Amino acid sequence: MLYISIQFRNIELKNRWVMSPMCMYSCENGVANDFHFVHYGSRAQGGTGLIMVEATGVEPRGRITNHCMGIWNDEQAEALKKIVDFVHTRSESKIGIQLAHAGRKGSTWNNLQIPVEEGWETVAPSPVPYHPSERIPHVLSIEEIREQVQNFKEAAKRAIKAGFDVIEIHGAHGYLIHQFLSPLSNIRTDEYGGSFENRIRFLLEIVKAVNEELDENTALFVRISGTEYADNGWNIHDSVELAKILKEHAVDLVDVSSGGNIHGAKISVFNGYQVPFSSQIRRETGVKTGAVGLITKVEQAEDILQKGEADLIFVAREILRNPYIAVQGSFEMKENCFFPHQYTRAKISS
Ligand code: FNR
Repeated sequence: MLYISIQFRNIELKNRWVMSPMCMYSCENGVANDFHFVHYGSRAQGGTGLIMVEATGVEPRGRITNHCMGIWNDEQAEALKKIVDFVHTRSESKIGIQLAHAGRKGSTWNNLQIPVEEGWETVAPSPVPYHPSERIPHVLSIEEIREQVQNFKEAAKRAIKAGFDVIEIHGAHGYLIHQFLSPLSNIRTDEYGGSFENRIRFLLEIVKAVNEELDENTALFVRISGTEYADNGWNIHDSVELAKILKEHAVDLVDVSSGGNIHGAKISVFNGYQVPFSSQIRRETGVKTGAVGLITKVEQAEDILQKGEADLIFVAREILRNPYIAVQGSFEMKENCFFPHQYTRAKISS
């Protein structure tokens, strides 16, 4: 199955390998550079079905650090277009971008909050910092929430203009959207807080606004944390309910990660530890899902697909170690995988 194509709207992925979004903290003013060109380009040459560009801020305060990627201006979009064009003209990979807002987890370096003068005042649904030692974030007013929705919409517009095939909304890992979803970080009493329906409103408004910009030539994914591993926090049942609603709102795939919103949460980490969340969401809602988290072996990835636990395999650290995992897997499985015609002799081992 790894090498059986799959379609999302008009976008056909040639195989099920996805480069998971990974912040590289290597931009100045949010602009991609030669490092990113080689970094993403080499995964395209490695036969990766879909390359997901790292969390990209929809506004300056949406970054995690001063060196994160951004897409709130045309210079940033132009730099990304160069990468998109390379991928499209030199390989059969597709390329997506993860649109993100860090919320209360912004203004950091090496996972530590930096002073306002070196960073910025963070924003959040409620005056609840990620860690008690951190600054109280600015609470977004209703008007400011609407501005954030608009930021995602404008970012999507730029991403489409740059030629991206997939837009992924980052609703996981304790960043702004997740902060709205969780009753532990969202204690608002207006229409964006309290009930499940109110807490998912911000995400749904973003999904609707972004979808207004998309046609059949760009697919829409949403990454969520299946659970946040905390009593009374966001859990897998909430994720199943949310996934049903996302499916109704024309979201093409739910990319299922976990955690990130609760400091010090106890997480039992083992090979494929998040796959059961993807599996449950897929089984109970019929939505297409992506599995991620300690998937490092070709046979492990194939097994997940064969068992119907996911439709796509997102790989992060292993694809940093091995940009050619898709090509390598195709040799192991005696399947076909696209890779540069210049490398054709690699198919002959004797
Ligand atoms: C990540 N991860 C991540 N996730 C995300 O949704 N957006 C991001 O920008 C990042 N950034 C990031 C940077 C780096 C260096 C790493 C290692 C990870 C999480 C990543 O996409 C993935 O979900 C986890 O790493 C688990 O998958 P692996 O590494 O076990 O394959």
